Amino acid sequence: MPFRHYVSGLLVAAAAVSSSPSPLVPRLDSVLPLSTQGRDVFDNNGNVFYYAATNWPGHQESMIPEGLQHASVHDIVSWFPKLGLNAVRLTYAIEMVDDMYSNSTNQTLEKSVLNALGQTNGTVVLDQILAHNPQFSKNMTRLQVFDAVAEELANQNVLLHLDNHVSKAFWCCSENDGNGWFGEKYFDVDNWIRGWSFMAKHGKDNWPSFASVGLRNELRTSNDSEPYDWYTWYTHMTAAADAVHLSNPDALIFFSGFDYDVYIDPIPLGRTLNGTNGSSTAGKSAVFVPDEFDWEDKIVLEIHKYDFEATQDDCETFKSKWYQKGFQALDGSNPDTKYLFPMVLSEWGFIQNGTYFEQTTYNNCTIEMVEDWKFGWMHWELSGSFYLQTRPGRTPATIQGLDEAWGLLNYNWSAIRSPVTVENSLDKMIAALG
Ligand SMILES: *[C@@H]1O[C@H](CO)[C@@H](O)[C@H](O)[C@H]1NC(C)=O
Ligand SMILES: *[C@@H]1O[C@H](CO)[C@@H](O)[C@H](O)[C@H]1NC(C)=O
Ligand SMILES: *[C@@H]1O[C@H](CO)[C@@H](O)[C@H](O)[C@H]1NC(C)=O
Ligand SMILES: *[C@@H]1O[C@H](CO)[C@@H](O)[C@H](O)[C@H]1NC(C)=O
Ligand SMILES: *[C@@H]1O[C@H](CO)[C@@H](O)[C@H](O)[C@H]1NC(C)=O
Ligand SMILES: *[C@@H]1O[C@H](CO)[C@@H](O)[C@H](O)[C@H]1NC(C)=O
Ligand SMILES: *[C@@H]1O[C@H](CO)[C@@H](O)[C@H](O)[C@H]1NC(C)=O
Ligand SMILES: *[C@@H]1O[C@H](CO)[C@@H](O)[C@H](O)[C@H]1NC(C)=O
Ligand SMILES: *[C@@H]1O[C@H](CO)[C@@H](O)[C@H](O)[C@H]1NC(C)=O
Ligand SMILES: *[C@@H]1O[C@H](CO)[C@@H](O)[C@H](O)[C@H]1NC(C)=O
Repeated sequence: MPFRHYVSGLLVAAAAVSSSPSPLVPRLDSVLPLSTQGRDVFDNNGNVFYYAATNWPGHQESMIPEGLQHASVHDIVSWFPKLGLNAVRLTYAIEMVDDMYSNSTNQTLEKSVLNALGQTNGTVVLDQILAHNPQFSKNMTRLQVFDAVAEELANQNVLLHLDNHVSKAFWCCSENDGNGWFGEKYFDVDNWIRGWSFMAKHGKDNWPSFASVGLRNELRTSNDSEPYDWYTWYTHMTAAADAVHLSNPDALIFFSGFDYDVYIDPIPLGRTLNGTNGSSTAGKSAVFVPDEFDWEDKIVLEIHKYDFEATQDDCETFKSKWYQKGFQALDGSNPDTKYLFPMVLSEWGFIQNGTYFEQTTYNNCTIEMVEDWKFGWMHWELSGSFYLQTRPGRTPATIQGLDEAWGLLNYNWSAIRSPVTVENSLDKMIAALG
């Protein structure tokens, strides 16, 4: 998520566990592979499938999923069915794959934690990770940690959506942080595609609940990269999708839009995707025509929506403004819609502090949007705290053991942070899909 407007709060005391029924939790063997037709995702039985997920970051400096110093993989994964969720958006950094290709000695769990947190604090955290997860060893690789997470997700019938969040491993996102647009400082397009070829195949071969990929999180403008235009988007996103599909013909492929993924309407509207005058893409154009692709029945559009403007719009206004950003993809009755696609709201959320959900109209109107249009979603996020977080521009830029006030779990990952918030937001988002 973009940190420009990101509000972090103080530690909120642990509260009682809320649990809700989970009618959406699938049986994997009857669900995968997923495919798409028109505006919907279908499971392997031909039933419409809606993602009801939360995010679990694994893309920050240590390059392993967060929280393992507080709880076991098993206990963390258990939150998904307890919360009534059927999937996880698990994030990773391309740097993890780059390290594999360079045979880096930094890939072990031990080095990953010590390099990120320093010798003293890293040793403490590493010992905590090993104490909570006795099946782990210091010399296992980051990828083996992901494998352990994936295995447990499958054991508990949670679908795995793998999101490429960044190239260089640190908190996403801000303008000119090097990770934002094709060709920017850290965003090497060839390494990104290589990373996807590897992860798509590895997931197919090793992760039984692997369902889908998000090609790139929150694309955004940059002052030093390839031109920021839809033609450049088309070129690289379709090349990455080809690579994923070649490695893993079963996976759904999510396409994100512009400006931190807040709009993608040119795709369902079938607009010409232009280059930029006076740049290397001048005079170039393309159109995203789904039936030209081998992965025609795997395309999903993703969009993000936060409440940075603390909206007080009434829901009719909120919904009609938001519709224009790409929900034409779901609307076969709109004459301007050229192509129908499934849409997933792959990030939404706000501070879990027991009052925010009713301070603005965002929560109610987002629930209404799901009721009206029926689309899958992925809440931001599960984590109660982070190993560490680096945000360029903040003082201090790097904070170890940072509390995540937006997390569903408390600091220790031991309980729901704000049950009243969950009852009034997450639970209603699940009900809205019914
Ligand atoms: C990494 O190791 C493999 C297998 O030993 C080798 O083929 C490859 O050249 C090495 N890569 C680098 C960048 O050293
Ligand atoms: C390993 O990580 C350290 C610390 O971040 C870095 O200085 C070193 O260059 C890395 N080594 C390799 C082989 O990537
Ligand atoms: C890693 O360490 C464990 C014991 O902690 C050992 O059994 C295993 O063989 C080691 N693996 C590698 C690849 O060195
Ligand atoms: C781009 O922005 C970054 C961060 O604000 C700055 O450090 C860098 O000098 C800028 N680069 C160019 C080419 O303007
Ligand atoms: C691309 O340019 C054409 C012609 O100027 C225009 O009609 C179209 O809307 C542009 N596409 C986008 C996505 O802006
Ligand atoms: C870009 O170039 C085309 C063709 O030369 C021209 O029609 C168009 O007006 C230019 N657009 C902008 C924004 O300068
Ligand atoms: C929750 O967060 C919002 C936004 O920062 C703030 O206005 C509100 O006072 C907070 N509520 C509590 C109980 O701290
Ligand atoms: C949200 O909806 C609930 C129930 O429909 C209502 O009681 C509440 O006042 C609404 N809150 C806001 C901020 O609109
Ligand atoms: C190490 O951990 C301690 C306490 O947990 C904390 O106060 C300190 O800031 C951490 N060191 C760094 C470099 O963040
Ligand atoms: C959870 O974290 C809080 C605050 O850091 C601490 O006081 C408490 O003892 C922890 N609880 C458990 C069960 O570890």
